[in-house]
Amino acid sequence: MSSNMSVVGLQWGDEGKGKIIDLCTEEFDVVVRYQGGSNAGHTVVVGGKKFVLHLVPSGILHERKLCVVGNGVAFDPPLFLQEVEDLRRQGVAIEGNLKVSDRAHVVFPYHKILDQLNENNNSNNKIGTTGRGIGPCYTDKMARCGFRVAELLDTRHFREKLKWVLEKKNQQISMLCGKDRLSYDEIAAGYAEYAEAVRPFVTDTVTLLAQEMKRGARILFEGAQGSLLDVDFGTYPFISSSSASACGVPAGAGVPPRDVGKVLGIMKAYITRVGEGPFPTELTGEMGQQLRENGGEFGATTGRPRRCGWFDAVAVRHAATINGADAAALTKLDVLSGQKEVKICTAYQCNNKTLTHFPANTVMLSDVEPIYEVFPGWDEEIRNARKFSDLPSEAGAYVRALEDAVELDVEIISVGSERDEIIRV
Ligand code: IMP
Repeated sequence: MSSNMSVVGLQWGDEGKGKIIDLCTEEFDVVVRYQGGSNAGHTVVVGGKKFVLHLVPSGILHERKLCVVGNGVAFDPPLFLQEVEDLRRQGVAIEGNLKVSDRAHVVFPYHKILDQLNENNNSNNKIGTTGRGIGPCYTDKMARCGFRVAELLDTRHFREKLKWVLEKKNQQISMLCGKDRLSYDEIAAGYAEYAEAVRPFVTDTVTLLAQEMKRGARILFEGAQGSLLDVDFGTYPFISSSSASACGVPAGAGVPPRDVGKVLGIMKAYITRVGEGPFPTELTGEMGQQLRENGGEFGATTGRPRRCGWFDAVAVRHAATINGADAAALTKLDVLSGQKEVKICTAYQCNNKTLTHFPANTVMLSDVEPIYEVFPGWDEEIRNARKFSDLPSEAGAYVRALEDAVELDVEIISVGSERDEIIRV
């Protein structure tokens, strides 16, 4: 097997991938984002200092690691430039260590407007998007009217193509809201400036990664969102618009499928989701509120409160299968301290039938009843645990039950937000 590794979320995002990626980065030379865009918010806490990364790979917090924004990313130039500036201000060295694919697709202001208009005009099918224009950007990519970064850098071509694309977008916008024509001159001038500012970062990352692998470099592929938000395998249509599972790595990073490497699935000790869509194990009462507060479950990108629920092993098993996950990292186990009992959903009840597989029909998922296994909780604070044997026996038993339920070994347990608050199993 390739010595690379892909780190992916096994839930609806916000599994704590940022921390695990940061932890694993030491063993790798290159960190690559391969899908999603500024809708992602990867939080890493180092020495009490909190970093939230949206477009820049989490590996940037380590010196001498090459970080790559791959071709599968929806690339938002002003947000990228702002993020780079913020990181530099916080003392992070960004020189030749950050590269952007010339094949990544560019997010424009009309994508964000269309994202919001689609949501507002779609009361029956509201997705609860982050409003970052991600869906409309990928729509244009598929509809063949998007812009690759390489086109943005080709000034004359960009100005020509923007004319007809913007005409089309203005038509769509006025159909949806009857006003607000976007100005060609403003966008052309603004994006010409961004083009010059991003130019030093842009390169052919397909060739770069091939060369890196040839010289023996190890690559870590950083998934964003989670597999249940994957465009093909998630809870469609309540999904993001990219391939958020490991299946997205080859196409989104521009590497051959054989180079995906080990797949490490990240799962939180409970489950959360932001935005709309069915959520069988959701806790809407006091318990949900408690998990939200104890776990700081508020969106890193939008600040929205996350919906919280018990661990759903049916959903995670589905995610693990799609990804071909080799092992799991379990995060936020500390958040469950103080619970009298903890629950794992092992199957769903639906029309007098027991379902052990995650249904493709998302409507059906709204009607299922979770079937739980209940385990005794623990009172102890576990942030200082550094070995599995330091955990209260009930916490240890819960981890073992999760492993059985999802048929994966847990290799890493995160017991706090700091880098060192970790157990290697
Ligand atoms: P979009 O990606 O902004 O189009 O949003 C589509 C769905 O994915 C919404 O339910 C969002 O809340 C969700 N989503 C997008 N990015 C993230 C993320 O990084 N973490 C968790 N949920 C996300």
